[in-house]
Amino acid sequence: MSEARKILVTSALPYANGSIHLGHMLEYIQTDMWVRFQKLRGNTCTYVCADDAHGSAIMLRAEKEGITPEQLIANVQAEHMADFADFGVNFDNFHSTHSEENRELSSAIYLALRDKGHIATRSVTQYFDPEKGMFLADRFIKGTCPKCAAEDQYGDNCEKCGATYEPTELKNPRSAISGATPVLKESKHFFFKLPDFEAMLKEWTRSGALQDSVANKIAEWLDGGLQEWDISRDAPYFGFEIPDEPGKYFYVWLDAPVGYMASFKNLCARRPELDFDEYWKPDSSAEVYHFIGKDIINFHALFWPAMLEGAGYRKPTALNVHGYLTVNGQKMSKSRGTFVKARTYLDHLNPEYLRYYYASKLGRGVDDLDLNLEDFVQKVNSDLVGKVVNIASRCAGFIHKGNAGVLVATDIEPELRASFRDALPSIAEAYEKRDFARAMREIMHLADLANAWIAEKAPWALNKQEGKQQEVQEICALGVELFRQLVILLKPVLPKLAADAEQFLNVPPLTWVDLAQPLANHQLNAFTPLMTRIEPAKVEAMIEASKEDLAATNAPAGNGELEKDPLAAEINFDAFAAVDLRIALIEKCEFVEGADKLLRLTLDIGDAKRNVFSGIKSAYPDPSQLEGRLTLYVANLAPRKMKFGVSEGMVLAAGPGGSEIFLLSPDAGAKPGQRVK
Ligand code: 2FM
Ligand code: ZN
Repeated sequence: MSEARKILVTSALPYANGSIHLGHMLEYIQTDMWVRFQKLRGNTCTYVCADDAHGSAIMLRAEKEGITPEQLIANVQAEHMADFADFGVNFDNFHSTHSEENRELSSAIYLALRDKGHIATRSVTQYFDPEKGMFLADRFIKGTCPKCAAEDQYGDNCEKCGATYEPTELKNPRSAISGATPVLKESKHFFFKLPDFEAMLKEWTRSGALQDSVANKIAEWLDGGLQEWDISRDAPYFGFEIPDEPGKYFYVWLDAPVGYMASFKNLCARRPELDFDEYWKPDSSAEVYHFIGKDIINFHALFWPAMLEGAGYRKPTALNVHGYLTVNGQKMSKSRGTFVKARTYLDHLNPEYLRYYYASKLGRGVDDLDLNLEDFVQKVNSDLVGKVVNIASRCAGFIHKGNAGVLVATDIEPELRASFRDALPSIAEAYEKRDFARAMREIMHLADLANAWIAEKAPWALNKQEGKQQEVQEICALGVELFRQLVILLKPVLPKLAADAEQFLNVPPLTWVDLAQPLANHQLNAFTPLMTRIEPAKVEAMIEASKEDLAATNAPAGNGELEKDPLAAEINFDAFAAVDLRIALIEKCEFVEGADKLLRLTLDIGDAKRNVFSGIKSAYPDPSQLEGRLTLYVANLAPRKMKFGVSEGMVLAAGPGGSEIFLLSPDAGAKPGQRVK
């Protein structure tokens, strides 16, 4: 047997200021399935990840929540780790880029680059917020588009006309953080001299490390000429201070990929059999793979290999790039309820349904993957419940009733067995190449063969005939054996189903080599249903709950999802004046059947009645306590259709969420229908 490979695998590090959603999950599930396959084959495969904890967005978010960045990233890390564990994503280590290992490695890499002359410094003039005392990244500057005069556009591009420009070209620029008019200010910046690595990158990106379409994209950039990369940011910044440069910090994207190494280093300290240098030295025979989305290929295919080369480390063996997730053919949408958080999914559905569906559609390419919810229900029910689990449930009963749960030894149907055996190399190859869709098709073909054969033999009919009991036992023993083989083949995708099947089969954890060791004269445990059908109502409930997440986020500030965009709250005066804010009397307030977070409010707004769903139930366990109270109401918000009815507008509340949501009220004397001025 050839020697076990040593493989280190990473997924992109999620930002520590937002929840994991099903789009993120595509990458983690894809990576996890590949890692599990490698482990099943007996390779030494190590899967590390971490939260990406630095940057101004995280600093400002923490400030807004009134906590330290350290507290924010600790809270988010706990949430992320629970989501991943519950989806069966089995990291060997999940660390943080805000760690000692990362500080040391990032500093050492920087110093090595500096000492070899790959760092340049020069002065950069940038907008500075004089009130906040900080330099403003393009997305923290807003103003009027220099091309089409649309107001309220970001510092680098106009969402109205699509123009791109320098922040200094914006008319009436202002800081999106404080509202102050920014001033131009000079500061010394540090640059990584990427052009020093042009020859190496031209070679490496064509060495088979990248999928063809990715290599082609990168070639366009390489042909266009490489620019030096600005790797420094000025204080205040949440990150690592640059060695010997007080007040200067590494830009988040400098230390983020180093976080892969740092997480591995942190693991090596606990696992003596893993040697950091063995994996990262320049001539290492270990393999290193980064699974990433197509939006971050520049960082991974240009800056990262160049940093590694410049600092004397090996380069990645390959990048495995995937496309985006769409739901029902469209971008995930909060208002359609298709922006589904990992936790909301888990509240309603078995994670292995999604793992299988993703596997059945994931090829080697960078195409987007569509989660079509009808197809999802249909495919999971038909393949997993109707084909795979069905084989065991058709056979187990006869073995328990007819032979006390003992599988007899049998050598019937050599051709059927051979079909299974002959399919193995191709299935293994499909997994190895990350062509999960092909692997699933070939496995389901085997399940079809097994089912067709059982249907033809019809042990349920034979069992009624005199003298056929031995035959029934042999058929069912082979049925269970074929099921066992399918379970091994599906184990990278369905680890929980495999664990439950191992319990039923009464065997230790199965690996690839067990495919060649059929069970015979073996006692089974009782059979319990291994997977139930997806009920479409549960999918609908998940979509509704995702709309509820949105309602809950909209009502009280800081509740629910952590936004990525710290500018979401910034509007100009005209936008504010466009809000029709009125006093409303809460006439009726009641629970909504089937909704976890919502209350239904009937509002008197002077000349009319309105029906509003509000995500404030956690703070008002007795809804009647709100009846008769005045509150503030947004009257001209577009109505939103929910499962429970149409929500016409929104009431205003404050607070962090949970029991601390505080509905706003006017002073005594205010009357329903009065407009807020
Ligand atoms: O795009 C992102 O979500 C980044 N947080 C990914 C970082 S991957 C690695 F380089 F750290
Ligand atoms: Zn414009």
